[in-house]
Amino acid sequence: MTRTIEELIPDYIRGLPVYVPGRPIEEVERELKIHAVKLASNENPLGPSPRAVEAAKQALRDAHRYPDGGAHLLRETLAARTGLAAEELFVGLGSSEIIDLASRVLLRPGLEGMTSSGSYAPFSVAIRASGADLVLVPQKRFAFDLEAMAQAITPKTGVIYLANPNNPTGTAFGLAQLEEFLGRVPESVLVVLDEAYVHYAPGLNRRKTEEIFRRRANLLILRTFSKVYGLAGMRIGFAIGRPGLLAAMNKLKTPFNTSGVAQAAALAAMDDREHVTRCIETNAIERARLSEGLSKLGLRPVPSETNFIFMEVGPEAKEICGELLPLGVIVRPLGWMGFPEAIRISVGTAEENGKCLAAMAEILAKRAGKGELAAR
Ligand SMILES: Cc1ncc(COP(=O)(O)O)c(C=O)c1O
Repeated sequence: MTRTIEELIPDYIRGLPVYVPGRPIEEVERELKIHAVKLASNENPLGPSPRAVEAAKQALRDAHRYPDGGAHLLRETLAARTGLAAEELFVGLGSSEIIDLASRVLLRPGLEGMTSSGSYAPFSVAIRASGADLVLVPQKRFAFDLEAMAQAITPKTGVIYLANPNNPTGTAFGLAQLEEFLGRVPESVLVVLDEAYVHYAPGLNRRKTEEIFRRRANLLILRTFSKVYGLAGMRIGFAIGRPGLLAAMNKLKTPFNTSGVAQAAALAAMDDREHVTRCIETNAIERARLSEGLSKLGLRPVPSETNFIFMEVGPEAKEICGELLPLGVIVRPLGWMGFPEAIRISVGTAEENGKCLAAMAEILAKRAGKGELAAR
């Protein structure tokens, strides 16, 4: 009997989970007929630099032409900033594309890809989509357990994904810990270090991880323009890696992966250091305020090194997120990321965070009232 196309899809692809993005604000507003704030996707609430917007507008005039497929100007500029060679830089369709390419280049059935449980879901998807076995090492206190990960390395391990700071828990490990871990990883295993939130972590230093890269041939560092540069909708990120690995990724990427508009916006965004500093400082102030406000409500946010706050709220986490929606606040329940009792709140503007805190207070008061009634 002939099999249908669907039946011919390999099990390791058919079994993949669907990525659940934060709900689009327009969808929630349409459905509930309310004005909502979206604190669900760790975006930059201050938006892009006006200079990036202007550069994107200018670049649109050339939209009839294919973009520079090698993103030369952006790579040269990044090279000048970092002191690396342009051949050590790869520009991708967000860091998401590069997460996928790392597994596609190096993994295959019979090998293993490793990451931590409770980390960024696309790592696991990339590993599984390659046909390799996924090795998920449990976390310790909402953070990567690098000791356990080092111990879990086998001769079959091909790629290890780390996020520092981590999404969705918001924790980070120090560079000394990273160095110690790298010392235990064989040179034949690629370590992908995703630094999407590195700007927000006071204890981390991008230049220092670049120094580590110079000493470690098996490190691939990922960065993105989606967070502190406020360009999530543009889909552009980059990797720092060895030229041989990047050349292989280059062969697999879709031609013209990033648009000319995105490349122009990224270049201008990097140039606006004032905007970047303002975004980092505002985030730090608002993260502290949101965290304190949540603590005052009796919640226990995990100290965050990022632009979002993770906390366990109990078995009704999903319901609480559902109750926040009609009050105009979109946050993320984390059941699908392996934390059925947790929620993640992205740090917004002062006004957005105020709305979130007020809504959370209202819900918790109602719930406490119901609890009291039930107890009587
Ligand atoms: C850890 C981590 N890596 C990568 C990304 C995706 O970044 P990009 O928009 O560059 O694809 C995110 C987005 O939320 C993230 O949390």
